[in-house]
Amino acid sequence: MPSAVGRVLLAEPRGSCAGVHRAIEIVERALEIHGAPVYVRKQIVHNEYVVSRLEQRGARFVDSENDVPNGAVCIFSAHGVSPQVRSNAAERGLHVIDATCPLVAKVHHEARRYARDKQTLILIGHADHEEIEGTFGEAPDRTVIVQDVDEARRLELPPGASAAYLTQTTLSVDDTAEIVAVLQERFPGLTGPGSEDICYASQNRQNAVKAIAGRSDLVLVVGSANSSNSVRMVEVAQAAGAAARLLPDVEHLDPAWLAGVRTLGLSAGASVPEVLVEQVVERLATLGFGDVETEVTAKENVVFKLPAELDRPTPQAPAAGGVVGGDACDELLARVSVTIEDLLKAETARWAAVDARVAVPVEAVAEIVRAGGKRLRPAFCVSGYLSAGGTADEETVVAAAAALELLHVFALIHDDIMDNSDTRRGTPTVHAKHAALHAERGWAGEHRRFGEGIGILAGDLALSYANRLASGLTGPALQIWNDLVTEVIIGQQLDIALAAELTPDPALSRWVAVCKSGRYTIHRPLALGAAIAGRPELQVPFEEYGVAAGEAFQLRDDLLDAFGDGVATGKPAGLDLVEHKMTLLLALAATKDDRVARLVADGRNGGWDPAELQGALLASGVRQEVEEQIDQLVATACAALDDAPLAGDWHKRLVKMAEQVAYRDR
Ligand code: IPE
Ligand code: IPE
Ligand code: MG
Ligand code: MG
Ligand code: MG
Repeated sequence: MPSAVGRVLLAEPRGSCAGVHRAIEIVERALEIHGAPVYVRKQIVHNEYVVSRLEQRGARFVDSENDVPNGAVCIFSAHGVSPQVRSNAAERGLHVIDATCPLVAKVHHEARRYARDKQTLILIGHADHEEIEGTFGEAPDRTVIVQDVDEARRLELPPGASAAYLTQTTLSVDDTAEIVAVLQERFPGLTGPGSEDICYASQNRQNAVKAIAGRSDLVLVVGSANSSNSVRMVEVAQAAGAAARLLPDVEHLDPAWLAGVRTLGLSAGASVPEVLVEQVVERLATLGFGDVETEVTAKENVVFKLPAELDRPTPQAPAAGGVVGGDACDELLARVSVTIEDLLKAETARWAAVDARVAVPVEAVAEIVRAGGKRLRPAFCVSGYLSAGGTADEETVVAAAAALELLHVFALIHDDIMDNSDTRRGTPTVHAKHAALHAERGWAGEHRRFGEGIGILAGDLALSYANRLASGLTGPALQIWNDLVTEVIIGQQLDIALAAELTPDPALSRWVAVCKSGRYTIHRPLALGAAIAGRPELQVPFEEYGVAAGEAFQLRDDLLDAFGDGVATGKPAGLDLVEHKMTLLLALAATKDDRVARLVADGRNGGWDPAELQGALLASGVRQEVEEQIDQLVATACAALDDAPLAGDWHKRLVKMAEQVAYRDR
């Protein structure tokens, strides 16, 4: 046993990001479905260990699509490819599966948009990196690459050119800010990306390394030499004043580096599997560094979906030479997440700089957003747009979908105050958390009123962010947005009125379900997507589908509250009964079952007994009736699409989505 000489400060977040997980899983799934060999153009991610493990399983890594036999599976790496590579692969009849990170795909999209607007594109990044080769290829005639501050100073643009800049996703945030500052000074009209191009994972890993660098005598960053983001992390640690080294794997760890080191900082690049970090931690323990402390600077919960063809359990015959995967819906939804995250980060920084207290409601909104959720409203909005054949207005649909999620967060935060709920998305609700903090700190006044005050403000803030994101909507899309915001508030009003009056009226309960929830969850998001795509004729089938599927969604929510698992739903089970909500379930039971009717009548006279009602509800058999109602609503929703002129396989996908929301367990 070596005697302890020092400790390890482990940075978090570190290691594999969502785009890397997805890319590796794409190769693994492709091997399972198509059998070995599958060809991968370039290293799938820049990590030797990942590449050699996949090689052992039958992946063949090639330098060019020209090295792939005709008709074979060819996976594009996470770094993306140029349109030239895509068309060459298609011409050669390759079965392409695209593992491009959705956040790189976003930059490609921006490059295309700027090129379409006849802008000169200044691409900040490393000319020999595959990501930049790919992005450059979007508009080679009007793009110049700038690699550092010197090149920014020397850059000449054609006279009168209007220019925009984009960046590689894995750059150093600080270096890039300097380059952008030089460019902006030299070219005052310069525009930039709508949201930051340096990806969340690079930013978080750099922040985490900065946080440990000050306290470390040496920082080791696990990562391969060709991994841009890993090398940037070493530079960030050095810029923060620490000695720092890149460490490809445990075999390269030289004990001589540890001489005189008392605190060793450790992190890993975004392409590095955690197992490589674990091996280093184990080795360090044998060298006297057994005391490990983790410093968490952010929590990440970004997950990217696989391309649709790999989500299926069985292989699907590929269209000859067609490019499959790189699903447009996933790409847009990834952009929605980034849009929301960017807004919340910017707002947190803005208000924290004024006073830590004023950032509290912003952080409360961010916490609920980051706690997860199913993101149904953005999914239906983007689906409405794509199923309507939308292509020309991605910015608008991404902003609208992000607005819908923030509107939802507003509704949730206020709903939890009205419903007296202490858990949402598996974490404490805003008002409950702040009431507890108020009590813990021994502050003056009522704990509950303080907590609810923060909840009201955080909800208001989420609504104001939602409106900010929706501010670009015009015409019919704006009308839909205005309607849905009002509807949800009116629906909530009737919800609490029925809970107070305790009058069982099944028809009214159904109306409330649609108004407070079904419309803003499914109908209006779909309609908004179609309106942005400029397809007014889809409003009728989308309303029929959305109202039916939306009601099914809320009836399932009610069933999950009454009979579901609070751990899975992330909110308390049984709360509707405690709060005497007049759900369809209760209203139906009260009109059909004498015992339930009597208990509800008792409630009107002040004798509400949730436990007894729960038993009576179960015995009444009304649960089965609501299940049948849900079946009918799903059938109605699906039939509504029968004659709707939808693009691609959207008919099938929307049918599946209706089933998913109606028969979910969370
Ligand atoms: C819950 O909505 C609130 C209702 C409208 C019933 P979701 O079930 O969509 O909640 P998240 O977004 O997944 O948390
Ligand atoms: C609320 O319905 C609908 C909203 C506008 C948020 P619920 O009160 O049933 O939603 P949950 O069950 O708390 O999520
Ligand atoms: Mg409610
Ligand atoms: Mg509620
Ligand atoms: Mg509910």
